[in-house]
Amino acid sequence: MDCIGVLTSGGDAPGMNANVRAVVRTACAHGKKVFGIRNGYAGMLDDDIFEMDTRSVGGIIGRGGTILGTARCSEFREPEGRERAARNLRDRGIEGIVVCGGDGSFHGAHALYGEQGISVIGTPGTIDNDLAGTDFTIGFDTAVNTALQAIDKIRDTAESHRRIFIVEVMGRNAGFIALAVGTAGGADAILVPEMLPDVPGTIEMLRERFDEGKRFSLVVVAEGVEIDTYKGGGSFMYEVREAGLEARLSIIGHQQRGGSPTVLDRQIATLLGAAAVEELLRGGTDKMAGYVSGRIQFSNLDYTWLYQKPLDMAQYRLLHQMAT
Ligand code: F6P
Repeated sequence: MDCIGVLTSGGDAPGMNANVRAVVRTACAHGKKVFGIRNGYAGMLDDDIFEMDTRSVGGIIGRGGTILGTARCSEFREPEGRERAARNLRDRGIEGIVVCGGDGSFHGAHALYGEQGISVIGTPGTIDNDLAGTDFTIGFDTAVNTALQAIDKIRDTAESHRRIFIVEVMGRNAGFIALAVGTAGGADAILVPEMLPDVPGTIEMLRERFDEGKRFSLVVVAEGVEIDTYKGGGSFMYEVREAGLEARLSIIGHQQRGGSPTVLDRQIATLLGAAAVEELLRGGTDKMAGYVSGRIQFSNLDYTWLYQKPLDMAQYRLLHQMAT
Protein backbone atom coordinates (compact mmCIF):
# COMPACT_ATOMS: atom_id res chain seq x y z
CA MET A 1 0.00 0.00 0.00
CA ASP A 2 1.54 3.29 -1.08
CA CYS A 3 -1.13 5.77 -0.23
CA ILE A 4 -3.50 6.14 2.73
CA GLY A 5 -6.19 8.58 3.84
CA VAL A 6 -7.22 9.83 7.27
CA LEU A 7 -10.49 11.30 8.50
CA THR A 8 -12.24 12.20 11.74
CA SER A 9 -15.93 11.45 11.92
CA GLY A 10 -18.97 11.78 14.19
CA GLY A 11 -18.86 13.94 17.33
CA ASP A 12 -15.45 15.53 17.80
CA ALA A 13 -13.28 14.51 20.75
CA PRO A 14 -10.17 16.04 22.32
CA GLY A 15 -7.17 14.09 21.04
CA MET A 16 -8.42 13.67 17.48
CA ASN A 17 -5.71 16.07 16.32
CA ALA A 18 -3.02 14.08 18.12
CA ASN A 19 -4.38 10.99 16.39
CA VAL A 20 -4.27 12.61 12.93
CA ARG A 21 -0.74 13.80 13.63
CA ALA A 22 0.36 10.26 14.52
CA VAL A 23 -1.27 8.80 11.41
CA VAL A 24 0.33 11.35 9.09
CA ARG A 25 3.78 11.15 10.63
CA THR A 26 3.80 7.34 10.74
CA ALA A 27 2.78 7.16 7.08
CA CYS A 28 5.49 9.69 6.17
CA ALA A 29 8.08 7.75 8.20
CA HIS A 30 7.33 4.77 5.96
CA GLY A 31 7.66 6.91 2.83
CA LYS A 32 3.93 6.65 2.04
CA LYS A 33 1.66 9.30 0.59
CA VAL A 34 -1.03 10.49 2.99
CA PHE A 35 -4.22 12.43 2.31
CA GLY A 36 -6.47 14.24 4.76
CA ILE A 37 -10.22 13.95 4.16
CA ARG A 38 -12.21 16.96 5.43
CA ASN A 39 -15.47 16.77 7.37
CA GLY A 40 -15.63 13.01 7.78
CA TYR A 41 -17.45 10.97 5.16
CA ALA A 42 -19.00 14.15 3.74
CA GLY A 43 -15.56 15.20 2.48
CA MET A 44 -15.02 11.77 0.97
CA LEU A 45 -18.25 12.20 -0.99
CA ASP A 46 -17.47 15.80 -1.98
CA ASP A 47 -13.89 14.93 -2.91
CA ASP A 48 -12.65 17.37 -0.27
CA ILE A 49 -9.33 15.56 -0.01
CA PHE A 50 -5.85 17.08 0.20
CA GLU A 51 -2.31 15.81 0.48
CA MET A 52 -0.62 16.15 3.87
CA ASP A 53 2.96 15.92 5.07
CA THR A 54 4.72 16.01 8.43
CA ARG A 55 4.51 19.82 8.51
CA SER A 56 0.72 19.86 7.97
CA VAL A 57 0.30 18.45 11.47
CA GLY A 58 2.85 20.64 13.25
CA GLY A 59 1.69 22.23 16.52
CA ILE A 60 -1.65 20.43 16.74
CA ILE A 61 -0.99 17.82 19.42
CA GLY A 62 -2.39 20.02 22.17
CA ARG A 63 -5.32 21.46 20.24
CA GLY A 64 -8.91 20.41 20.86
CA GLY A 65 -11.39 19.83 18.04
CA THR A 66 -10.11 18.42 14.77
CA ILE A 67 -8.20 20.28 12.06
CA LEU A 68 -9.81 17.98 9.49
CA GLY A 69 -13.33 18.91 10.56
CA THR A 70 -16.00 16.30 11.24
CA ALA A 71 -19.63 15.59 10.42
CA ARG A 72 -22.39 13.05 10.70
CA CYS A 73 -23.17 12.15 7.07
CA SER A 74 -26.51 10.54 6.13
CA GLU A 75 -25.62 10.08 2.44
CA PHE A 76 -22.78 7.75 3.36
CA ARG A 77 -25.30 5.43 5.01
CA GLU A 78 -26.50 4.45 1.50
CA PRO A 79 -24.51 2.04 -0.74
CA GLU A 80 -24.64 4.57 -3.63
CA GLY A 81 -22.97 7.18 -1.44
CA ARG A 82 -20.24 4.76 -0.42
CA GLU A 83 -19.64 3.80 -4.05
CA ARG A 84 -19.13 7.46 -5.01
CA ALA A 85 -16.87 8.02 -2.02
CA ALA A 86 -14.74 4.97 -2.87
CA ARG A 87 -14.37 6.25 -6.44
CA ASN A 88 -12.94 9.53 -5.12
CA LEU A 89 -10.46 7.59 -3.00
CA ARG A 90 -9.37 5.34 -5.89
CA ASP A 91 -8.96 8.34 -8.22
CA ARG A 92 -6.24 9.58 -5.86
CA GLY A 93 -4.69 6.16 -5.40
CA ILE A 94 -5.86 5.85 -1.78
CA GLU A 95 -6.04 2.16 -0.91
CA GLY A 96 -6.62 2.31 2.81
CA ILE A 97 -7.98 4.76 5.38
CA VAL A 98 -7.78 5.41 9.10
CA VAL A 99 -11.12 6.51 10.56
CA CYS A 100 -11.11 8.17 13.96
CA GLY A 101 -14.65 8.12 15.35
CA GLY A 102 -17.34 6.24 17.23
CA ASP A 103 -19.63 3.34 16.38
CA GLY A 104 -21.59 5.18 13.67
CA SER A 105 -18.33 5.99 11.89
CA PHE A 106 -17.20 2.38 12.25
CA HIS A 107 -20.44 1.06 10.73
CA GLY A 108 -19.64 3.22 7.67
CA ALA A 109 -16.03 2.03 7.51
CA HIS A 110 -17.09 -1.62 7.82
CA ALA A 111 -19.54 -1.21 4.92
CA LEU A 112 -16.97 0.65 2.81
CA TYR A 113 -14.58 -2.27 3.15
CA GLY A 114 -17.28 -4.90 2.59
CA GLU A 115 -18.73 -3.31 -0.53
CA GLN A 116 -15.80 -1.47 -2.06
CA GLY A 117 -12.71 -3.29 -0.80
CA ILE A 118 -11.09 -0.15 0.62
CA SER A 119 -8.97 -1.18 3.63
CA VAL A 120 -10.10 0.43 6.87
CA ILE A 121 -8.68 0.68 10.37
CA GLY A 122 -10.60 2.52 13.08
CA THR A 123 -9.24 4.45 16.01
CA PRO A 124 -11.71 5.01 18.87
CA GLY A 125 -12.53 8.73 18.91
CA THR A 126 -15.51 9.66 21.08
CA ILE A 127 -15.89 11.21 24.50
CA ASP A 128 -18.52 8.58 25.41
CA ASN A 129 -16.06 5.67 25.95
CA ASP A 130 -18.79 3.33 24.72
CA LEU A 131 -16.78 1.16 22.30
CA ALA A 132 -15.89 -2.42 23.15
CA GLY A 133 -12.28 -3.39 22.46
CA THR A 134 -10.63 -0.48 24.25
CA ASP A 135 -10.41 0.55 27.89
CA PHE A 136 -10.45 4.22 26.89
CA THR A 137 -11.63 6.05 23.82
CA ILE A 138 -9.72 9.13 22.68
CA GLY A 139 -11.36 12.18 24.30
CA PHE A 140 -12.98 10.47 27.29
CA ASP A 141 -10.32 11.44 29.81
CA THR A 142 -10.37 15.11 28.80
CA ALA A 143 -14.17 15.18 28.83
CA VAL A 144 -14.47 13.73 32.32
CA ASN A 145 -11.85 16.13 33.65
CA THR A 146 -13.75 19.06 32.12
CA ALA A 147 -17.01 17.84 33.67
CA LEU A 148 -15.31 17.29 37.02
CA GLN A 149 -14.02 20.87 37.12
CA ALA A 150 -17.58 22.08 36.59
CA ILE A 151 -18.96 19.75 39.28
CA ASP A 152 -16.39 20.94 41.82
CA LYS A 153 -17.58 24.50 41.23
CA ILE A 154 -21.23 23.55 41.38
CA ARG A 155 -20.63 21.91 44.76
CA ASP A 156 -19.45 25.26 46.17
CA THR A 157 -22.65 27.07 45.29
CA ALA A 158 -24.83 24.07 46.19
CA GLU A 159 -23.37 24.02 49.69
CA SER A 160 -23.70 27.78 50.18
CA HIS A 161 -27.40 27.71 49.30
CA ARG A 162 -28.22 24.31 50.74
CA ARG A 163 -29.45 23.05 47.42
CA ILE A 164 -29.72 19.89 45.42
CA PHE A 165 -28.08 20.00 42.00
CA ILE A 166 -28.92 17.73 39.13
CA VAL A 167 -25.88 17.84 36.86
CA GLU A 168 -26.36 16.57 33.33
CA VAL A 169 -23.29 15.21 31.59
CA MET A 170 -23.01 13.91 28.02
CA GLY A 171 -23.71 10.34 27.00
CA ARG A 172 -26.89 9.76 25.04
CA ASN A 173 -26.65 5.99 25.23
CA ALA A 174 -23.84 5.41 27.69
CA GLY A 175 -23.17 6.18 31.34
CA PHE A 176 -19.36 5.99 31.36
CA ILE A 177 -18.93 9.75 31.74
CA ALA A 178 -21.59 9.90 34.47
CA LEU A 179 -20.00 7.03 36.41
CA ALA A 180 -16.49 8.49 36.23
CA VAL A 181 -17.39 12.04 37.21
CA GLY A 182 -20.00 10.90 39.72
CA THR A 183 -17.38 8.81 41.52
CA ALA A 184 -14.67 11.47 41.30
CA GLY A 185 -17.03 14.33 42.15
CA GLY A 186 -18.55 12.65 45.22
CA ALA A 187 -22.08 12.51 43.81
CA ASP A 188 -24.91 11.17 45.96
CA ALA A 189 -26.30 9.23 43.02
CA ILE A 190 -25.90 8.76 39.31
CA LEU A 191 -28.52 7.90 36.75
CA VAL A 192 -27.30 6.15 33.61
CA PRO A 193 -29.05 4.93 30.45
CA GLU A 194 -27.86 1.34 31.00
CA MET A 195 -30.08 0.98 34.08
CA LEU A 196 -33.71 1.77 34.71
CA PRO A 197 -33.65 4.90 36.88
CA ASP A 198 -35.09 4.48 40.36
CA VAL A 199 -36.66 7.92 40.41
CA PRO A 200 -38.85 7.60 43.55
CA GLY A 201 -36.00 5.88 45.47
CA THR A 202 -33.49 8.55 44.52
CA ILE A 203 -35.87 11.37 45.45
CA GLU A 204 -36.58 9.73 48.79
CA MET A 205 -32.85 9.43 49.47
CA LEU A 206 -32.35 13.13 48.65
CA ARG A 207 -35.18 14.12 50.98
CA GLU A 208 -33.80 12.00 53.85
CA ARG A 209 -30.32 13.48 53.46
CA PHE A 210 -31.76 16.98 53.42
CA ASP A 211 -33.83 16.30 56.55
CA GLU A 212 -30.71 14.91 58.24
CA GLY A 213 -29.08 18.31 57.73
CA LYS A 214 -26.87 17.65 54.71
CA ARG A 215 -26.03 20.99 53.12
CA PHE A 216 -26.02 19.85 49.48
CA SER A 217 -26.61 16.89 47.24
CA LEU A 218 -25.39 16.18 43.74
CA VAL A 219 -27.00 13.81 41.31
CA VAL A 220 -25.11 13.22 38.08
CA VAL A 221 -27.43 12.28 35.25
CA ALA A 222 -26.37 11.10 31.81
CA GLU A 223 -27.95 13.11 29.01
CA GLY A 224 -30.01 10.16 27.70
CA VAL A 225 -31.68 9.60 31.07
CA GLU A 226 -32.55 13.24 31.67
CA ILE A 227 -34.31 13.38 28.33
CA ASP A 228 -35.97 9.97 28.48
CA THR A 229 -36.74 9.38 32.17
CA TYR A 230 -40.34 8.94 31.25
CA LYS A 231 -40.79 8.69 27.50
CA GLY A 232 -43.46 11.13 26.48
CA GLY A 233 -42.85 13.77 29.11
CA GLY A 234 -41.11 14.73 32.27
CA SER A 235 -37.53 14.47 33.35
CA PHE A 236 -35.73 13.61 36.54
CA MET A 237 -35.38 17.32 37.33
CA TYR A 238 -39.12 17.80 36.90
CA GLU A 239 -39.83 14.95 39.33
CA VAL A 240 -37.45 16.36 41.93
CA ARG A 241 -39.14 19.75 41.82
CA GLU A 242 -42.59 18.14 41.89
CA ALA A 243 -41.51 16.45 45.11
CA GLY A 244 -41.03 19.93 46.60
CA LEU A 245 -37.23 19.83 46.84
CA GLU A 246 -35.13 22.94 46.24
CA ALA A 247 -33.11 21.91 43.20
CA ARG A 248 -31.35 23.33 40.16
CA LEU A 249 -30.40 21.71 36.88
CA SER A 250 -26.97 22.37 35.43
CA ILE A 251 -26.22 21.05 31.94
CA ILE A 252 -22.50 20.90 31.30
CA GLY A 253 -23.03 20.29 27.59
CA HIS A 254 -20.65 20.63 24.68
CA GLN A 255 -17.76 22.12 26.64
CA GLN A 256 -17.06 18.44 27.44
CA ARG A 257 -16.18 17.95 23.77
CA GLY A 258 -13.63 20.76 23.60
CA GLY A 259 -10.38 21.83 25.18
CA SER A 260 -6.77 20.78 25.12
CA PRO A 261 -6.45 16.98 25.49
CA THR A 262 -5.01 15.48 28.67
CA VAL A 263 -1.79 13.47 28.82
CA LEU A 264 -3.73 10.20 28.60
CA ASP A 265 -5.71 11.31 25.55
CA ARG A 266 -2.60 12.56 23.74
CA GLN A 267 -0.75 9.36 24.57
CA ILE A 268 -3.40 6.91 23.44
CA ALA A 269 -4.21 9.03 20.38
CA THR A 270 -0.55 8.87 19.37
CA LEU A 271 -0.09 5.16 20.10
CA LEU A 272 -3.31 4.15 18.37
CA GLY A 273 -2.76 6.39 15.33
CA ALA A 274 0.70 4.94 14.75
CA ALA A 275 -0.54 1.37 15.32
CA ALA A 276 -3.42 1.87 12.88
CA VAL A 277 -1.05 2.83 10.07
CA GLU A 278 1.32 -0.05 10.83
CA GLU A 279 -1.66 -2.42 10.67
CA LEU A 280 -2.86 -1.03 7.33
CA LEU A 281 0.64 -1.42 5.90
CA ARG A 282 0.77 -5.04 7.16
CA GLY A 283 -2.38 -5.70 5.12
CA GLY A 284 -4.82 -5.53 8.04
CA THR A 285 -8.34 -4.20 7.56
CA ASP A 286 -11.81 -4.00 9.13
CA LYS A 287 -10.35 -3.65 12.62
CA MET A 288 -10.09 -1.10 15.39
CA ALA A 289 -6.89 -0.34 17.24
CA GLY A 290 -7.75 -0.33 20.95
CA TYR A 291 -5.89 0.26 24.21
CA VAL A 292 -6.44 -2.65 26.60
CA SER A 293 -4.57 -3.07 29.90
CA GLY A 294 -1.79 -0.78 28.71
CA ARG A 295 -1.25 -2.51 25.37
CA ILE A 296 -2.41 -2.04 21.79
CA GLN A 297 -4.99 -4.62 20.81
CA PHE A 298 -6.91 -5.01 17.54
CA SER A 299 -10.57 -6.06 17.45
CA ASN A 300 -12.84 -6.69 14.51
CA LEU A 301 -14.70 -3.47 13.76
CA ASP A 302 -18.14 -5.03 14.25
CA TYR A 303 -17.10 -6.36 17.68
CA THR A 304 -16.83 -2.75 18.87
CA TRP A 305 -20.57 -2.21 18.55
CA LEU A 306 -22.00 -5.76 18.67
CA TYR A 307 -20.57 -6.36 22.12
CA GLN A 308 -21.92 -3.88 24.64
CA LYS A 309 -19.10 -2.66 26.82
CA PRO A 310 -20.32 -3.06 30.41
CA LEU A 311 -20.32 -0.35 33.04
CA ASP A 312 -18.16 -1.19 36.04
CA MET A 313 -20.90 -2.27 38.43
CA ALA A 314 -18.51 -2.55 41.38
CA GLN A 315 -17.67 1.13 40.94
CA TYR A 316 -21.37 1.92 40.61
CA ARG A 317 -22.15 0.22 43.94
CA LEU A 318 -19.15 1.83 45.61
CA LEU A 319 -20.33 5.28 44.56
CA HIS A 320 -23.61 4.72 46.40
CA GLN A 321 -21.77 3.34 49.43
CA MET A 322 -19.54 6.44 49.53
CA ALA A 323 -22.51 8.80 49.44
CA THR A 324 -23.75 9.23 52.96
O1 F6P B 1 -21.14 10.92 20.90
C1 F6P B 1 -20.62 12.03 21.56
C2 F6P B 1 -21.72 12.94 22.01
O2 F6P B 1 -21.15 14.06 22.63
C3 F6P B 1 -22.77 12.31 22.92
O3 F6P B 1 -22.36 12.22 24.26
C4 F6P B 1 -23.91 13.25 22.72
O4 F6P B 1 -25.13 12.64 23.04
C5 F6P B 1 -23.83 13.58 21.27
O5 F6P B 1 -22.47 13.40 20.90
C6 F6P B 1 -24.27 14.97 20.92
O6 F6P B 1 -24.16 15.14 19.55
P1 F6P B 1 -24.34 16.52 18.79
O7 F6P B 1 -23.16 17.38 19.09
O8 F6P B 1 -24.43 16.14 17.36
O9 F6P B 1 -25.59 17.12 19.33
